[in-house]
Amino acid sequence: MPKKIVLAAAAVASLIVIAQPAFAEPVATATSPDGNVKVELNIDGDGRAAYSVSRNGKLIVAPSKLGFLFTDVAKIDRRLSVTGQEVKDFDESWTQPWGEWSTIRNQHRELKVHLKETTALARIFTVTFRIFNDGVGFRYEFPEQPNMAQTNIADELTEFAFATDATAWWKPAFLWNREEYLYNKTPLSSVSNADTPVTMKLADGTHVALHEAALVDYSGMAVARTEGNTLRAALHPGAGAPKVQKKGAWQTPWRTLIIADDAAGIYQSHLMLNLNEPNKLGDVSYIKPGKFAGVWWNMIKGEWSWARGPKHGATNENVKRYIDFASANKIPHLLVEGWNVGWDGDWFGNGHDMDFAKPTEDFDVKMLVEYGRKKGVRLIGHHETGGAASHYEKQFDKAFKFAADNNYMVVKTGYVTDAAQMEREDDDGTKYREWHQSQWMVNHQLRVLEAAAKYKVGIDSHEPVKGTGLHRTYPNWVAREGMRGMEYNSWPGKNPPEHEANIVFTRMLEGPMDFTPGILSLQGEGGSNILSTIAKQLALYVVIYSPVQMAADTPENYAKYPEAFKFIRDVPTDWEDTRVLNGEIGDFVTIARKERGGKNWYIGAVGDEEARNVSFKLDFLTPGKKYTAEIYRDGDDADYRTEKRHSIAIYSRTLRSTDSLDMRIAPGGGFAIRLVEGK
Ligand code: NOJ
Ligand code: CA
Repeated sequence: MPKKIVLAAAAVASLIVIAQPAFAEPVATATSPDGNVKVELNIDGDGRAAYSVSRNGKLIVAPSKLGFLFTDVAKIDRRLSVTGQEVKDFDESWTQPWGEWSTIRNQHRELKVHLKETTALARIFTVTFRIFNDGVGFRYEFPEQPNMAQTNIADELTEFAFATDATAWWKPAFLWNREEYLYNKTPLSSVSNADTPVTMKLADGTHVALHEAALVDYSGMAVARTEGNTLRAALHPGAGAPKVQKKGAWQTPWRTLIIADDAAGIYQSHLMLNLNEPNKLGDVSYIKPGKFAGVWWNMIKGEWSWARGPKHGATNENVKRYIDFASANKIPHLLVEGWNVGWDGDWFGNGHDMDFAKPTEDFDVKMLVEYGRKKGVRLIGHHETGGAASHYEKQFDKAFKFAADNNYMVVKTGYVTDAAQMEREDDDGTKYREWHQSQWMVNHQLRVLEAAAKYKVGIDSHEPVKGTGLHRTYPNWVAREGMRGMEYNSWPGKNPPEHEANIVFTRMLEGPMDFTPGILSLQGEGGSNILSTIAKQLALYVVIYSPVQMAADTPENYAKYPEAFKFIRDVPTDWEDTRVLNGEIGDFVTIARKERGGKNWYIGAVGDEEARNVSFKLDFLTPGKKYTAEIYRDGDDADYRTEKRHSIAIYSRTLRSTDSLDMRIAPGGGFAIRLVEGK
């Protein structure tokens, strides 16, 4: 049962005001609580401020400039002086109502550096660094001041000048298909425009992930390489010239650098969640993590339609059959797409006909909700806006009332239109075209969450603004898409076998991901083959995290694979603890998770196109206990390229915390293990 967020320990805070040397520009510096990560801020002869980050004495980010360009007034970047600085320690633990870890420790040292321009404008601001044992977050904070009553930001000049070249995993920014691109693996010195997170491996093996936290009332930050190993913030545009507009006091989101010895360490970091504000919604016990089935995959395959007509998927008959399937398998939710009026024409990039409270004639919502209620299955609503965001906002109240009246816990939203084609219409009737990650869209997504929260409804956003840990503040933001999910495995140009091993260490750093796993048929549109083994589909339920995880295949297909399907029936979606046991970005990863409110552990591993063995210890299990391990691994002849992609070995054995496992992963494969605690 999800718990209310509580602060388990009071903040232990102390304030040390450091004396300033009178003879020179002061240099501000502070380290992480364990002393390993160090931040320095320097002012050069031109009065340019630059920060640097080192770890264990080794420079990770070389002096990197700070500043802003504005559309109407002089930029901020030179002729700055430090007027003061403060350091304070912080240590508290807090509890997530749902998540990958139930308790999170937030231990960091905060360094505030106050700066002032020596020019006539004399603008003042503070750069606040929070230095964790596994990285750094920093943001700019501008108080209200006479020369900045209204701020029009053209771009941010924040640099990330990495001290050495590295291998970088990144996806392109500012292209038509938004966040849905495959990851590139290139030298850092070959990155062009990239959306964050960008994850890097330095020559000595140190891993760094660059991203942002708490993206509120600002536009999303992409990065563009300037020269060498230097990336610079490149804000997502809005509809007009200033990319961000502010009145009075303002601050940026946190620019974040997670730093760890290895890929596993990057995933284990809680830095992003800790840089977000605590829960603003209060009691969110209405969010009950669980799996969902969907009147969906047949639409993605083109066999059913969202639109009304002979192929319409969301009919009473189909929905009842899917409710029966979900109920028989203790799956608490059923997504139904194409249930509402508005899909009949060309809805891509055109959601003007969408009515989020008007079911089609062949979808008897009252009857179906009642049918589901008797069988323990709640419907998940679907709001596909086709990019008509303002049209959607006008319907918020009736849409979420409809959702609440019909017992929905979650609504899945969608913004299917090309980048820069989101439709905004202001109260005065002025129309704009927005980018998906513009300041207005960032605020739109928060308006959706608030509108939904009023009715105790959760949101799973597709074609979303990237995740920046805001599910801490708004725990009704249960999931989002924001990458190439399973739907791409239906269509030509399928996800390659390494895709999931890439997204675990990149996209998943953003938080819960609606990937929609579990296509046990391993077939997409026209019977085309998915580049995966069946065991890998099971592994995804552990490797990929979402509190609302989909069993995405059709009931008929699941009926063909009852032994493998048992793992999907058994696996939970809410976790007490998560351990990344090993992994290399784009090659493989093994994750163990302990179910919340229970004693059992689950392990999932995925590989890439090559066969390999992975070994790991089971020392996270409770000592002295015996576990029955239900193992689902690739058959000895399994291979995603052949007819043997369905070859799977399923068996049980007894394991203890002192044991280790050495498991083979087939090409395109993986494995899943359920460890049931005995005596
Ligand atoms: C794209 C979403 O990712 C997919 O899940 C959905 O079915 C379609 N849009 C239609 O809304
Ligand atoms: Ca999508």
